[in-house]
Amino acid sequence: MVCVLIPATSANLGPGFDAVGMALSFYNEVSLGPSPKELEIEVFGDGAELISRDKNNLVYVAITKVFEKLGKTPRNLKLTLKNRVPLARGLGSSAAAIVGGLVAANAYLGNPLPSDELLRLATELEGHPDNVAPALLGGVVISGFDRDKVKYLKLPVPEVEVVVAIPRFQLKTADSRQILPAEIPFSRAVLNVNRVSFLIAAFCLKKYEYLQIGMEDYLHQPYRSQLIPGFYQVVEEAKNAGAYGVALSGSGPTVIALAKEGEAVGRVIKEAFLKFNVETEIIYTRPENRGAIDLINYKGEGDC
Ligand code: HSE
Repeated sequence: MVCVLIPATSANLGPGFDAVGMALSFYNEVSLGPSPKELEIEVFGDGAELISRDKNNLVYVAITKVFEKLGKTPRNLKLTLKNRVPLARGLGSSAAAIVGGLVAANAYLGNPLPSDELLRLATELEGHPDNVAPALLGGVVISGFDRDKVKYLKLPVPEVEVVVAIPRFQLKTADSRQILPAEIPFSRAVLNVNRVSFLIAAFCLKKYEYLQIGMEDYLHQPYRSQLIPGFYQVVEEAKNAGAYGVALSGSGPTVIALAKEGEAVGRVIKEAFLKFNVETEIIYTRPENRGAIDLINYKGEGDC
């Protein structure tokens, strides 16, 4: 039997739309072992009642990809999923499912596939690499396509606390992608290039005060914020409470703030959202430098 921990991820870090993602220190868990039945799937934790227990299960779909790639048929398997990453909130739940299935199946079969091949398969299943890359590899990852190949670079992990504010309502990526325009003004694109340059430099040089502008986005937040009551007020109040930078996590509705110390920022975000009748769960976490691959034999947080 194998057991894999897969970190939550925050994609679109600030202005890094579809390009920059960060792994976070809370995890889903995927266990894979033999079963006398053709297929057994147990699901526990966040959104368990919404997850299918048959061959449509996304973790199982990813497992079959690995088996098929190696010319094998998945048979007599027991899959146990313990979910901490909430569904459809912008924290990489589908990436965690895909990466969990791929890494677990690969480990079950003796690790024949290298990590680049797992990344390729994960990106094929998810459609874009910005969540699956940090879920698989850990840390802050810049990723993108070079024709049909996925290229990536890992950045130094920032020494910050991450405040994650999760509104109670779900937002499907497909819906919040539909709201984006086909074109934006040239001046906004220029501003975004400027901001993402500050983001990357702030991480590399550990000059986190530059995240005040380095986490600003002009590509997707102006549109997606319409689906998140109070978004810009929350950003403003969190910055006033000392956050280095604040942004939408993935396609939302979760908001993340990077801070030296998160507690006051988390309290202010919760209160600011409440003014707009949005209830949130606040998680205080940190960037996770280990991805699912490194966490496979980890004996720390989590039950594996
Ligand atoms: N880059 C993706 C988006 C992340 O914003 O649509 C969410 O899956």
